Order: sequence, then C-alpha cells, then structure tokens
Amino acid sequence: MEDTFNKIVALCKRRGFVYPGSEIYGGLANTYDYGPRGVELLRNIKNRWWDHFVTRREDMYGLDTNILMNPKVWEASGHTASFSDVVVDCRNCQFRTRADHLIEDYLDKNNPDEIDFGSYQTKRLSEEKVKTLIKTHKVEGYSEEELDEIINALNIPCTICSGNEGNKWTPTRKFNLLFETHIGIVSEEKSLAYLRGEIAQGMFVNFKNVLDTISPKLPFGLAQSGAAFRNEVTMGKFTFRTLQFNLAEFEYFFNPENMKWEELFEKWKEEMWKWTTDILQLKTENLRWRPHTDEERSHYSTRTEDVEYKFPFGFKELYGLAYRTDFDLKNHREKSGVDLRYTDPQTGNKFIPHVIEPTFGMDRTFLAVLFNSYHEDETNGKKRVVISLPTYLAPYKAAVFPLVANKPEITSKARNVFELLKKNVATVWDDRGNIGKRYFAQDEIGTPNCITVDYQTLEDDTVTVRDRDSMKQERVVIEKLPTFIQNKSSTT
Ligand code: GAP
Repeated sequence: MEDTFNKIVALCKRRGFVYPGSEIYGGLANTYDYGPRGVELLRNIKNRWWDHFVTRREDMYGLDTNILMNPKVWEASGHTASFSDVVVDCRNCQFRTRADHLIEDYLDKNNPDEIDFGSYQTKRLSEEKVKTLIKTHKVEGYSEEELDEIINALNIPCTICSGNEGNKWTPTRKFNLLFETHIGIVSEEKSLAYLRGEIAQGMFVNFKNVLDTISPKLPFGLAQSGAAFRNEVTMGKFTFRTLQFNLAEFEYFFNPENMKWEELFEKWKEEMWKWTTDILQLKTENLRWRPHTDEERSHYSTRTEDVEYKFPFGFKELYGLAYRTDFDLKNHREKSGVDLRYTDPQTGNKFIPHVIEPTFGMDRTFLAVLFNSYHEDETNGKKRVVISLPTYLAPYKAAVFPLVANKPEITSKARNVFELLKKNVATVWDDRGNIGKRYFAQDEIGTPNCITVDYQTLEDDTVTVRDRDSMKQERVVIEKLPTFIQNKSSTT
C-alpha cells in the first residue's frame, strides 16, 4: 500500500498533477501547487460539488466570502482560544510534532503487546484505556497529561534525530492552528489578523445579510468553497495535510422546535454517502463513518462524525459532519451586538436557528479519487498504469493524435478534429512519440478517449476512438464525434 502511495506521488509530479510548493527554493514544507492536469481534476471536483449541493437544490444559497475577517470573528467563534493541537518538541533537535501523531505512528510501526508504564504509574490512564490503546493505536480525545505519560512510557525516539535517551521530549502543550498576519492600515501601524481557519465563519457573519436581501425560509443552507489555512505541525502524507487547503462546506440552518436534529443529521449522512459513493464512485469497502468521542469533538460541536477513507496510510478523515447547534450565531450575536435572529414568517416568532454542517476537504477528495482509480495492468506483455477516473472528473475527455507527425494531410485533418472537439469538451493534442507511448501517457492522466487520425481518415472521414478502460477501438465518423464523446461522458 505504501508502495502505491509513493507511485501516485511520483505520478502526480511526472504528469503535472501536483508539484511541491516553491520547489526551486528547496520547497516549503506542507505546501503544494496544482499543475495543469491537477488543476483540471480539482476544478472538476469542485464544480461537481457546487452543482450537486448548490445549483441543483432549491434550499441552498452560495457565498464567496473573504479570507481576511475582523479578528473579533475568531474570538467569538472560539478559534483563538480553542483551535489547537497538542504538540511536543524534541529537546535535542527542536523538531516539533503533534503528540497524537507521534504516538499513533510509533504504535503502528512497533505493535507493542504491552506498555511498561514503570515509574510513570501516575495512573492517569486506566487499565482499560491502556488495553484499548494497544488494540486501536488511537489516542483521540486523550488529555495532555495522558499523552505525556504514553510518550514517556513508550520512550518514543525523535523521528528526526532518533534521540531517545531519558526525557527527550518537552511536556505536551497546546499550539494554536490559526495563521496570524498583520494588516498595515496606516503606514507603520500594524494590526493583527488571521487567515481563516475554516470557511464556515464567512457564512455565519453574513447570515443577516442573506436574510435581509433574499429572505430564505428555513430550513436552508449557505454554502461556499474556498481556501482555508492552518498552521499544521505534522509533515508528510503529501497533500493530505497542508498549510493551505481547499474546503467546501455548508451550514444548514433549521428550526429546532419543528425539526429533530438527529433526523436531519441522519439525512445529511445519507447525502454525504451518496456523494462519496455514487458521484465520486469511491469504493464502499474503503469508506466508513466514525463518530467522534466527546473529548476529540471540536469546541463548537455537540455531535460529529467523520467519513473516513482508507488511504494507503490507513483509514483517515475525508469529510466531517457536525451539529453546531446555535453556538456560532449565538456567540456572534452576543459579541457583535447585532440581532442575528430569524423571524418565522407565519408566527412572527424570533429565534436563533440551529445548524448542521457537512464539510468536504477538496484536496483530500482529489487524493481519494486518485487512489481509488489508480491501477496497473498488463496486455500483450506490456504493463500500463491507468487512472480510471469517472469521465466527468478526468482533466481531458479526449486526446487527438495524428497517426504520423510528418504527413501534412494527416496532421491538418487531425488539427481540424481537435478544433471541432475542443469547442465541445476538454480536449488535448498529442503528436509526440509513437501511438503506443501516447496511449500510455493518456492512460496515466485518465483521458477516457484517444482519437487517432490515420490514412483511412483521408478516405472515409472516420477516426479510431480507443477506450481507456477496455482499450477497444471503434471507428466513428468525424461529424458524429462530438455527440459520441459527449454521450459517453454523460453516462460515466
Ligand atoms: N468547518 C468545519 C471544519 O473546518 P474540519 O474537520 O476541521 O472541519 C474540514 O475540516 C475538512 O477539511 C476535513 O474533513 C478535511 O477533509 C479537510 N482538512 C482539514 N485540515 C486539513 C489540512 N490541514 N489539509 C488538508 N485538508 C484538511
């Protein structure tokens, strides 16, 4: 599995999906840039999400709010106080890491049958918790003191300098994830601001604007998709955890007096599952729901469940679903002094709606889609790598090749076919190397149809269309090609 991970990371670079950030300057840890193929795949995922959850629904309204907000927003939302990870620093090389990740990775690699707490028998950890820890290798929801105790009892070495003698790690401490920045309002005058740590707050602070301007009726959702920033300390795992990432989420507001949050929660679970399995076509055996424990839940949530995907490095969070109650609107009302209540159009009653929040990491979706569709096969002794992306997600729906590059009649005919198709679907031109190599390259970026203009084309105006997955070829009349490709795209 780890091998597949490395292969996909290499393919992403080789084929222009994802590049390490600021590479010519030695990179910047936990940052990545999307290349020409990656940006198309990512945009297709985002567009499909928007189309599915916003455009096609009557009860959803989109927003596009600012990354920079008044810092009071983050105080009211509780992020300045509670949006943190527990970290430790190596006393030897100053390497900083998340305590939970340090322990879980160590347990995964070493699989201990028992843990000798020896002198650390302060008994913060019950026998039952120790047993569960050995079995699950998970420390979600453990207190800082408990994490300290486990790190010391396991004598975990530093992953960078390997130092493990004595007490190598500093005691655990909280590390806030909000990125600070400064806004120069007047020359030399600076004021603290934050890059948004979640995009949800832009929807809460515009709640009144939306009520006042378009008068939506409950229940309804406010949706947006955009960049979020977190000062993550754990590195690695490619784009799974980055400093800047793409989020898409919506706040679904409802009246708790006439709707049971438990039922709504279940309904959104079903919708999220459908998106993941029917639309993205992720294999169900690689997906599961995992409820958060009381201790690990975010400060704003009464109940949270994650959709986890089985990445090559284990089951990890793909999406989250949280019942945020009236936590955010209530706090913003109190702190801003602005009335954020909704008025029931029938009864005239004023109240703060409650909210259910489905949240979707777009970069993790991108990764899951790639892992889900990557495979290798062999035909006639030749190995190939194929990314069997659903057609609507593929960066290009078709590639057009002239059979030979040195016959002007063939290349000019092929250019005509390319121009014709490009008006209708995302199409790419390729005249490098031989046909076999071109197929190979297109399979690796998931192009479902490869179209070759050959000598027969000059006689009967037909081209070969080679299917990515079956590798079958059929001849299609050029005139019918746009409809043929479009029809295929709409069904898969
Ligand atoms: N508004 C709720 C919220 O932000 P979250 O669980 O903290 O919830 C939402 O984050 C989603 O964003 C996660 O389910 C995950 O897919 C993605 N995500 C979170 N942190 C990330 C990071 N550092 N890099 C990439 N994706 C991340």
